[in-house]
Amino acid sequence: MTRNLKFRNLYLIMLASLLFTSCLTNVEQPIEEEGEDPVTVDPCESITFSSNVKSIIDNNCTQCHSSSGGQFPNLDSYNGVSSNASSVLSEVESRRMPQGGSLSNDEITAIKCWVDNGALNN
Ligand code: HEC
Repeated sequence: MTRNLKFRNLYLIMLASLLFTSCLTNVEQPIEEEGEDPVTVDPCESITFSSNVKSIIDNNCTQCHSSSGGQFPNLDSYNGVSSNASSVLSEVESRRMPQGGSLSNDEITAIKCWVDNGALNN
Protein backbone atom coordinates (compact mmCIF):
# COMPACT_ATOMS: atom_id res chain seq x y z
CA MET A 1 0.00 0.00 0.00
CA THR A 2 2.72 2.49 0.99
CA ARG A 3 4.75 1.26 -1.93
CA ASN A 4 1.85 1.87 -4.31
CA LEU A 5 1.42 5.41 -2.98
CA LYS A 6 5.11 6.12 -3.55
CA PHE A 7 4.77 5.04 -7.17
CA ARG A 8 1.70 7.17 -7.56
CA ASN A 9 3.49 10.22 -6.20
CA LEU A 10 6.42 9.58 -8.49
CA TYR A 11 4.05 9.26 -11.42
CA LEU A 12 2.33 12.53 -10.52
CA ILE A 13 5.64 14.35 -10.18
CA MET A 14 6.77 13.08 -13.61
CA LEU A 15 3.46 14.08 -15.14
CA ALA A 16 3.65 17.52 -13.58
CA SER A 17 7.19 18.16 -14.80
CA LEU A 18 6.24 16.92 -18.26
CA LEU A 19 3.37 19.41 -18.38
CA PHE A 20 5.61 22.12 -17.03
CA THR A 21 8.30 21.64 -19.67
CA SER A 22 5.79 21.47 -22.51
CA CYS A 23 4.30 24.74 -21.26
CA LEU A 24 7.73 26.32 -21.28
CA THR A 25 8.35 25.15 -24.83
CA ASN A 26 5.04 26.61 -25.96
CA VAL A 27 5.92 29.95 -24.42
CA GLU A 28 9.35 30.11 -26.04
CA GLN A 29 8.42 29.14 -29.59
CA PRO A 30 6.69 32.33 -30.81
CA ILE A 31 9.52 34.49 -29.47
CA GLU A 32 12.07 32.49 -31.47
CA GLU A 33 9.96 32.70 -34.63
CA GLU A 34 9.68 36.47 -34.34
CA GLY A 35 13.46 36.73 -34.10
CA GLU A 36 13.97 35.07 -37.48
CA ASP A 37 14.98 36.96 -40.65
CA PRO A 38 15.63 40.45 -39.29
CA VAL A 39 14.93 42.95 -42.09
CA THR A 40 18.19 44.65 -42.99
CA VAL A 41 17.86 48.17 -44.36
CA ASP A 42 20.49 49.25 -46.88
CA PRO A 43 21.53 52.78 -45.83
CA CYS A 44 22.70 53.50 -49.39
CA GLU A 45 19.42 52.62 -51.03
CA SER A 46 17.91 56.12 -50.97
CA ILE A 47 21.10 58.09 -51.81
CA THR A 48 21.00 59.88 -55.18
CA PHE A 49 23.11 62.50 -56.91
CA SER A 50 20.31 65.06 -57.22
CA SER A 51 18.89 64.75 -53.70
CA ASN A 52 22.08 64.18 -51.66
CA VAL A 53 25.46 64.45 -53.39
CA LYS A 54 24.93 67.60 -55.47
CA SER A 55 24.09 69.79 -52.46
CA ILE A 56 27.09 68.47 -50.49
CA ILE A 57 29.43 69.32 -53.39
CA ASP A 58 27.76 72.71 -54.03
CA ASN A 59 27.98 73.70 -50.37
CA ASN A 60 31.55 72.51 -49.73
CA CYS A 61 33.55 72.23 -52.95
CA THR A 62 32.45 74.44 -55.85
CA GLN A 63 33.70 77.71 -54.37
CA CYS A 64 37.12 76.35 -55.43
CA HIS A 65 36.26 73.51 -57.84
CA SER A 66 34.33 75.37 -60.56
CA SER A 67 35.06 77.57 -63.56
CA SER A 68 34.90 80.65 -61.33
CA GLY A 69 36.92 78.99 -58.51
CA GLY A 70 39.52 77.85 -61.02
CA GLN A 71 40.68 74.74 -59.14
CA PHE A 72 40.93 71.37 -60.93
CA PRO A 73 38.84 69.19 -61.00
CA ASN A 74 35.75 71.18 -61.95
CA LEU A 75 32.91 69.81 -59.80
CA ASP A 76 30.06 72.16 -60.73
CA SER A 77 28.21 69.62 -62.91
CA TYR A 78 27.24 65.95 -62.75
CA ASN A 79 29.80 65.14 -65.47
CA GLY A 80 32.59 66.85 -63.56
CA VAL A 81 31.82 65.00 -60.33
CA SER A 82 31.16 61.58 -61.90
CA SER A 83 34.29 61.58 -64.07
CA ASN A 84 36.35 62.32 -60.92
CA ALA A 85 34.26 60.12 -58.61
CA SER A 86 37.04 57.93 -57.23
CA SER A 87 39.41 60.82 -56.44
CA VAL A 88 36.52 62.83 -54.93
CA LEU A 89 35.79 59.84 -52.69
CA SER A 90 39.39 59.34 -51.62
CA GLU A 91 39.85 63.07 -50.92
CA VAL A 92 36.76 63.27 -48.69
CA GLU A 93 37.32 59.91 -46.98
CA SER A 94 40.86 60.93 -46.05
CA ARG A 95 39.45 64.38 -45.08
CA ARG A 96 42.05 66.16 -47.24
CA MET A 97 39.01 67.85 -48.83
CA PRO A 98 37.22 70.18 -48.44
CA GLN A 99 40.32 72.30 -47.92
CA GLY A 100 39.75 74.58 -44.94
CA GLY A 101 36.53 72.80 -43.92
CA SER A 102 35.12 69.39 -43.13
CA LEU A 103 32.25 67.10 -44.03
CA SER A 104 30.10 65.26 -41.50
CA ASN A 105 30.34 61.47 -41.32
CA ASP A 106 26.86 61.26 -42.89
CA GLU A 107 27.94 63.41 -45.82
CA ILE A 108 31.04 61.26 -46.38
CA THR A 109 28.88 58.11 -46.16
CA ALA A 110 26.44 59.56 -48.72
CA ILE A 111 29.27 60.25 -51.19
CA LYS A 112 30.71 56.77 -50.61
CA CYS A 113 27.29 55.16 -51.21
CA TRP A 114 26.78 57.10 -54.42
CA VAL A 115 30.27 56.30 -55.79
CA ASP A 116 30.03 52.61 -54.76
CA ASN A 117 26.67 52.37 -56.53
CA GLY A 118 28.26 53.48 -59.80
CA ALA A 119 28.17 57.33 -59.54
CA LEU A 120 24.85 57.39 -61.39
CA ASN A 121 23.05 60.50 -62.67
CA ASN A 122 20.06 59.82 -60.46
C1 HEC B 1 39.17 76.30 -50.34
C2 HEC B 1 39.29 75.66 -51.63
C3 HEC B 1 38.90 74.21 -51.78
C4 HEC B 1 37.74 73.61 -51.38
C5 HEC B 1 36.56 74.21 -50.63
C6 HEC B 1 37.84 72.24 -51.83
N1 HEC B 1 39.02 72.02 -52.48
FE1 HEC B 1 39.60 70.32 -53.39
N2 HEC B 1 41.38 71.16 -53.89
C7 HEC B 1 41.75 72.46 -53.58
C8 HEC B 1 43.12 72.66 -54.00
C9 HEC B 1 43.93 73.96 -53.81
C10 HEC B 1 43.54 71.46 -54.58
C11 HEC B 1 44.92 71.10 -55.18
C12 HEC B 1 46.00 71.01 -54.16
C13 HEC B 1 45.78 69.91 -53.20
O1 HEC B 1 45.61 68.77 -53.61
O2 HEC B 1 45.81 70.20 -51.98
C14 HEC B 1 42.41 70.55 -54.50
C15 HEC B 1 42.45 69.25 -55.01
C16 HEC B 1 41.34 68.44 -55.07
C17 HEC B 1 41.26 67.18 -55.77
C18 HEC B 1 42.37 66.59 -56.62
C19 HEC B 1 43.28 65.79 -55.76
C20 HEC B 1 44.38 65.19 -56.62
O3 HEC B 1 45.44 65.79 -56.68
O4 HEC B 1 44.11 64.13 -57.22
C21 HEC B 1 40.02 66.66 -55.57
C22 HEC B 1 39.46 65.36 -56.12
C23 HEC B 1 39.32 67.58 -54.71
N3 HEC B 1 40.13 68.64 -54.42
C24 HEC B 1 38.04 67.38 -54.27
C25 HEC B 1 37.37 68.27 -53.43
C26 HEC B 1 36.05 68.03 -52.92
C27 HEC B 1 35.21 66.77 -53.19
C28 HEC B 1 35.72 69.09 -52.15
C29 HEC B 1 34.47 69.29 -51.35
C30 HEC B 1 34.09 68.24 -50.45
C31 HEC B 1 36.83 70.03 -52.22
N4 HEC B 1 37.81 69.49 -53.00
C32 HEC B 1 36.83 71.27 -51.62
C33 HEC B 1 40.96 73.40 -52.98
C34 HEC B 1 39.71 73.21 -52.45
